[in-house]
Amino acid sequence: MKKTLRRFMSVLLTALLVCACLAPCASAADLAGTTPLQFNADGKFKICMFNDLQDKANPDKRTLELVGAVLDQEQPDLVVIAGDTINDAYAGATAEDIANTYKNLFAPIVERDIPFLMTFGNHDHDKIGTLSLEGQMDVCKSMSSCIVPDDGCDPGTYNVPVLNSAGTAYALNVYMMDTGNKNEEVGGYRGVLPEQVEWYKAKSDELKAINGGEVVPSFVFQHIPVKEIYQFLERTEDYDNAFINLDEFRWYKFKEDMTLLPGDNFCLEAPCSEKQTVTTGQYEAWLEKGDIIGAYFGHDHINNFVGITNEGIQMGYNAGGGFATYGNGGKRSARIFVIDENAPADYETYNVNYDQVTGSETAFVFMDLVSLNTVNVVLRMIYKVFGPLFEVLMDAVETIAAA
Ligand SMILES: [Fe+2]
Repeated sequence: MKKTLRRFMSVLLTALLVCACLAPCASAADLAGTTPLQFNADGKFKICMFNDLQDKANPDKRTLELVGAVLDQEQPDLVVIAGDTINDAYAGATAEDIANTYKNLFAPIVERDIPFLMTFGNHDHDKIGTLSLEGQMDVCKSMSSCIVPDDGCDPGTYNVPVLNSAGTAYALNVYMMDTGNKNEEVGGYRGVLPEQVEWYKAKSDELKAINGGEVVPSFVFQHIPVKEIYQFLERTEDYDNAFINLDEFRWYKFKEDMTLLPGDNFCLEAPCSEKQTVTTGQYEAWLEKGDIIGAYFGHDHINNFVGITNEGIQMGYNAGGGFATYGNGGKRSARIFVIDENAPADYETYNVNYDQVTGSETAFVFMDLVSLNTVNVVLRMIYKVFGPLFEVLMDAVETIAAA
């Protein structure tokens, strides 16, 4: 009797062991074909981010040169475009002009057959009267290497997971979020809406369940930064090394004790999200779900840095890439991310800019005159002459504003 029981137990244990070994294979079969993205055989995956290419149907040659040269040098597995592809100063543009702008600006990506994702910026939203967001996204989806899925939250808000090299699990996930246009109620820019935050939370849970209860490490790419970007900044009187926030008329600089990653860090304009007096809830949702290993923004063309917030979220900017709009001379750039499937959170990120990839030494770009950095330069001169008087004036403005 005892012998029979022992035999039964040993068969049962063997069966359980076989089932446990087979489980990942079953899961692999389920995940195959669910995403077009996968880590390479060496366990690496490279993402290239562009934003604010911001042009017309006949784009500036230097912008196309930047995109093409970066792609040739970096050979990314995925390109993400974080909004503002269309130039707002495009009076009289037809739907066909807008479609051609997307086609011509993304041509260097499509010609190289590199998968790409895109979301919208405020200037793309500005054109919805001429071509709706669905219409704009349909133009992009008609391009052969576009992999934007159909099942997102809205046309510009969706996710695409990345399989590990073995094809057995999701090792990474990419969220593209549409941050809309201006905030009509409080001024400034809107950020994501509550329903987008709820969509993100549900998607995060869904991916976690698929991944056997472990969160899937994820990137967020979007146009407008979250308000928490101001954690990296502080007011200063040292205006020679600072930028002006025109809403407060005060100088800001990087916080002394803030953790900034090494790189070509610059911040020449006040992040646009300062007027989000009510948080969108997006940052809090990231903390709640614990899956975000990086959040990267555009919009502020002359800002480029990466920091780690007090709560441990790594986030930052890529400088704008378009030459038909303001920027930082030859430092118009792409941001590169190199991810290892065994340690996704320890990814490497760096910039490659126009001067580096083309061997140029750009001295002057006319459009850079129409920039907040010009305001910085002019105000610095005024401060130097009228410094103390200006401080008194600003104190008065602040008192009146607070009253
Ligand atoms: Fe822009």
